[in-house]
Amino acid sequence: MKNYISINDIDHLPSWVKEARTLKTNPTAYKTLGKEKTLCLLFFNNSLRTRLSTQKAAMNLGMEVMVMNFGSEGWQLEFEDGSVMDQGKSEHIKEAAQVVSQFCDVVAIRAFASLTDKEKDEAEVVLNGFTKYASVPVINMESSIGHPLQALADAITLEENRTKTEPKVVLSWAPHPKALPHAVANSFIEMMHLQEAEFVITHPKGYELNPEITKNTKIEYDQEKALQDADFVYVKNWSSYTDYGKVLKQDVDWMMTKEKLGNAKFMHCLPVRRNVVVADAVLDSEQSLVIEQANNRTFAAQVVLKKILEDN
Ligand code: CP
Repeated sequence: MKNYISINDIDHLPSWVKEARTLKTNPTAYKTLGKEKTLCLLFFNNSLRTRLSTQKAAMNLGMEVMVMNFGSEGWQLEFEDGSVMDQGKSEHIKEAAQVVSQFCDVVAIRAFASLTDKEKDEAEVVLNGFTKYASVPVINMESSIGHPLQALADAITLEENRTKTEPKVVLSWAPHPKALPHAVANSFIEMMHLQEAEFVITHPKGYELNPEITKNTKIEYDQEKALQDADFVYVKNWSSYTDYGKVLKQDVDWMMTKEKLGNAKFMHCLPVRRNVVVADAVLDSEQSLVIEQANNRTFAAQVVLKKILEDN
């Protein structure tokens, strides 16, 4: 594998999950694999989990890590070919990606959707710009349309907690005061397509995701009906895809509560707004898997880095 850009870069999900779980039992088993190799993490947006877990994964493999908050510290980048750079942007992706490649062996990028320009977001200009011009492997640490490291961690968490061959997994939209991207939901859906499970998405009308991603997936607009007999409930807000990037209405009654959750396990990628997205009683209960999901981010990143180091 050269790059880890989307869930589609996983050749066989069960064996990746198995390998990640093995790494979890002995995180430093391959501590010389990354010796004298450097990982460069470039953040165009904020992070807690992705930054620390990817750094920890690299350290477990013996790599050196450099981190740059590109959004606030780097030069503003131009991504258009042939542009006349006489405005605010100081550096072109062509030079920036090649220069970064001289300082590291793997580069990882976080660059969220703008939620103002669907076409540009779907073109993944930042991630694809680096992938095109970097001479080293590229890892997606959440782009406009995908968060494959999160989805791999979610797959590990599902495997650790499943008690049935085909559990019922529900992805339930939740209210949120701000417009949020579709990346986590998209990658979770793509990952669920690789799982043996009964999978249902539930959201208010108007919050349909990209139909290319949700095709062949059951969508149930009645949240109560969707949650019946669920084994896992993954809660996430996203803004409208059709009315791109808009919060249509607050729909506060879609917040996850203990009553709605029933006996299911609760999942969320974090960060999460308490008592807006999910009630305290859920997050503070034994049914919540959110801390373990965050822990599994290390082993998701580690299996990705291990494969890249072995193949390049
Ligand atoms: N889930 C996740 O990606 O968390 P951060 O935004 O804190 O990295």
